[in-house]
Amino acid sequence: MTTARSSATASTSASDAGRIAQSPMFDTLSDAAGGPSTCTPGFEHQPEPCQADRFILVQDERDRRQLPPHGRGSRMRVFIVGTGNMAGGIATRALAGGHTVRLVGTDPAKAMTLADALAERRPGADVAPAVPDAVGSADVVVLAVPFDAAKEVVTEYGDRLAGKTVVDISNPVDFSTFDSLTVPADSSGAQQLAEAAAPGTHLVKAFNTTFAGSLVAGEVGGLPLDVFIAGDDAAARDQVAELVSSGGLNPVVVGGLRHARELEGIQLLHMALQTRPGGHGWMSAIKIVAP
Ligand SMILES: NC(=O)c1ccc[n+]([C@@H]2O[C@H](COP(=O)([O-])OP(=O)(O)OC[C@H]3O[C@@H](n4cnc5c(N)ncnc54)[C@H](OP(=O)(O)O)[C@@H]3O)[C@@H](O)[C@H]2O)c1
Repeated sequence: MTTARSSATASTSASDAGRIAQSPMFDTLSDAAGGPSTCTPGFEHQPEPCQADRFILVQDERDRRQLPPHGRGSRMRVFIVGTGNMAGGIATRALAGGHTVRLVGTDPAKAMTLADALAERRPGADVAPAVPDAVGSADVVVLAVPFDAAKEVVTEYGDRLAGKTVVDISNPVDFSTFDSLTVPADSSGAQQLAEAAAPGTHLVKAFNTTFAGSLVAGEVGGLPLDVFIAGDDAAARDQVAELVSSGGLNPVVVGGLRHARELEGIQLLHMALQTRPGGHGWMSAIKIVAP
């Protein structure tokens, strides 16, 4: 088993497995895990249960008008671990940028459902489910899972992430109070992931301040989302910045990975505001505005 949930069994149908096997970045359907999904499209850790594929209810104007990709750079192979709200949001932007997307879930059926929904919304998009072993051909790996799961994933993927750009999008927040981070004050979730990862893994913090629903839309209030980026490897930061800008968003490189702490802190406040009267329905964005 090569996903973080190692005890589960495969639940993909024969026809699904056949389709997955045809995917260029897909090696073998070695194993998979099942389990109920509770999510709310575009919302983080809300109580209402839903299915992962419900994120398609949020329409992307740019996708609907079928405009060409934003970017003029090279096509990246983006490997996303997770099949929930953020996986859908980041995949939407990556596909808008003309990149290839592969999705790995604990349950192959969820990866298939999400891939189908994304392909339906962007005909011709190169998106498909994959198995963990396919990570070898990825240019960028996105950890679209909860923080604790991300630690398990980087440990389990180990050396296969060495030399790759790995994006941590997590918010290690105490979700019972929305009042504190769960990592020590002199550290961050991203720094802990970097310590857990194999040597040579280029850990980059990004997308943690963008709510999933706004990512699908690509904008809030008519303005493109800012995506704050922190990382120690300049080439990896640039690669994530290119991924962001090609998808129609605005990259803001803030510096080294030590600044992930501030990004997680500001998003803690942003999330806490949603839970208060007058909150913005998990659709607001943090943006730098200048004359
Ligand atoms: N939602 C937002 O607006 C938002 C914004 C910024 C950052 N984030 C961050 O993005 C990450 C994902 O959030 P989300 O809203 O997309 O969550 P989500 O919709 O609940 O999706 C989480 C995904 O992670 C998978 N997963 C859970 N535990 C796992 C494990 N132990 N091993 C492997 N996979 C596991 C889930 O698989 P199953 O479905 O099989 O359980 C699911 O595919 C989190 O770190 C969150 O803090 C979220």
